[in-house]
This record gives sequence, structure tokens and C-alpha cells, in this order.
Amino acid sequence: MKILFFGPNGSGKGTQGSIIKDKYGIPHIETGVIFRENITGGTDLGKKAKGYIDRGELVPDNITIPMILARLQEDDCKGGWILDGFPRNLTQAQELDKALKDLDITLDIVIEMILDRQIAKDRIMGRRLCVNDNNHPNNIFIDAIKPNGDKCQVCGGDLKTRSDDQDEDAIDQRHNIYYDTETGTMAGVNYFKDLSSKNDGIPRIVDLNGQQDLKKVTAELINKLG
Ligand code: AP5
Ligand code: MG
Repeated sequence: MKILFFGPNGSGKGTQGSIIKDKYGIPHIETGVIFRENITGGTDLGKKAKGYIDRGELVPDNITIPMILARLQEDDCKGGWILDGFPRNLTQAQELDKALKDLDITLDIVIEMILDRQIAKDRIMGRRLCVNDNNHPNNIFIDAIKPNGDKCQVCGGDLKTRSDDQDEDAIDQRHNIYYDTETGTMAGVNYFKDLSSKNDGIPRIVDLNGQQDLKKVTAELINKLG
């Protein structure tokens, strides 16, 4: 199954993607995670990406697009994938569509998670990342997934805060890009919706209510993926 996972920044894509990846046995590819691993590792890619990420801007397409298209051609992607955080603008959507056609790969499903912008912002500011698995749910503002003191509520691992999560201007900038229907992420969502309507419903478009508690979101998602 080849899946694109859209949703506002902080809506729960990473959290749900990591559950779905285990259920369907396919890799969960998160562009933001790839960049952050490169920043931590001090690579050239990480050095180039850091400033953009700290400001909440997109890393330029000439870096991001080839990086993801190469990742999708690795061996573990042959049986499918969940792509989370890409495409993020209209150009990335068009380039991905073109590359998939060239490679004779059919995109099966496009998920659009829906969540109010302010709720997503609050989730970002309360998020804490577990050093053992950055998608272990931990959020200081949400009782059901509150950390145990300063430790991960799932595994007891140490927690850290993403540097771009505490800067309100950077969060607003990320959301401005997401909700932009001209050239931003929503323009990418609409690109795939158009494609679907002209192509007998392929890829299948799935909407997902991100406002429910975490387990209900998972249940709705699994039900709709089939
Ligand atoms: P990225 O890492 O993708 O960050 P983001 O877009 O800001 O999205 P998030 O990871 O914040 O949100 P999420 O939906 O995964 O939420 P999560 O599951 O963690 O990108 C970072 C940066 O990298 C970008 O700003 C850009 O600079 C660069 N970049 C990335 N992709 C790029 C691209 N394609 N092109 C160019 N640049 C790119 O959940 C959030 C919190 O809510 C957690 O605490 C979680 O535990 C909690 N939570 C989850 N679900 C629920 C629920 N149902 N109820 C209550 N709490 C919940
Ligand atoms: Mg994420």
C-alpha cells in the first residue's frame, strides 16, 4: 500500500504513521525526521536544512525533492510506504506525481487529517520527544499522554523538546504554509484530489478527524484504510 499522509503540523501524523507502519509492515518515511537526524549527525544536509527548519520555512525543493525520490527507490519501499511530511507544496506534489508515473508506481491512498489550527498549535507546544522513539505519544497539555515526570509515559526514556516547537512565529509560519491553497501544502492536497476525480477515484482520498483522542483516530484510520 502506498500512502500519502497530509495533516496540519502537530495534528498527529507522526503518531498515527508509526502505528500504521507496524500494522501494514511498510516503512514510515518522515521528511522532518530525516532532516533532524542529519542535523544531529552534523552532516552537510543537516547544516543546510537547520536554518530553514528553525524559522519554520520549507527546506528548498532542490534539496528535499531528490532526497525523497531517492528514499522511495530503496529496497524496503518495494512493498509500499507511508509518506508523512512530503509533498509540502504544489511543486513537490507535481514532481512526486511525475516521478511515480515514470517509475510505474501507483499511489493508492491520500489521507487528509483535519484539525483546527489552534488545537494543532497547542499540541505542538506541549509535545515532548522520547529519545528512544520520537513518535511515542507524550504531551504535557494532554492528560491521557502526559509524561511521567520528565520521562516518556510509554517506555520511561528521556524526553526532549524540538527547537522549532517553542517558537510561536515558526509554528505560525509552518501553519501558513500548510493552509496555503495557492502554492502550499493544501494546494498539494487539492492536486491529488483533482487527480483522483479524473482517474476513477485513484488514489482513494480518505479524510480523518484528528480532533478525537488518539485511539479513536487510530480506529477511524484503520477502518478507512481497510
Ligand atoms: P515536520 O517534522 O514534518 O514537522 P511538522 O510539519 O511541524 O509536523 P509535526 O511533526 O509537528 O506534526 P505531526 O502531525 O507529526 O504531529 P505528532 O504526531 O508529532 O517538519 C519539520 C520541518 O522540516 C518543517 O518545518 C520544514 O522546515 C522541514 N520539512 C519537512 N518536510 C519538508 C518538505 N517536504 N519540504 C521542505 N521542508 C520540509 O503529534 C503532535 C503532538 O500531539 C504530540 O505531542 C502527540 O503526542 C500529540 N497527539 C497526537 N495525536 C493526538 C491526539 N489524537 N490527541 C491528543 N494529542 C495527540
Ligand atoms: Mg511529524
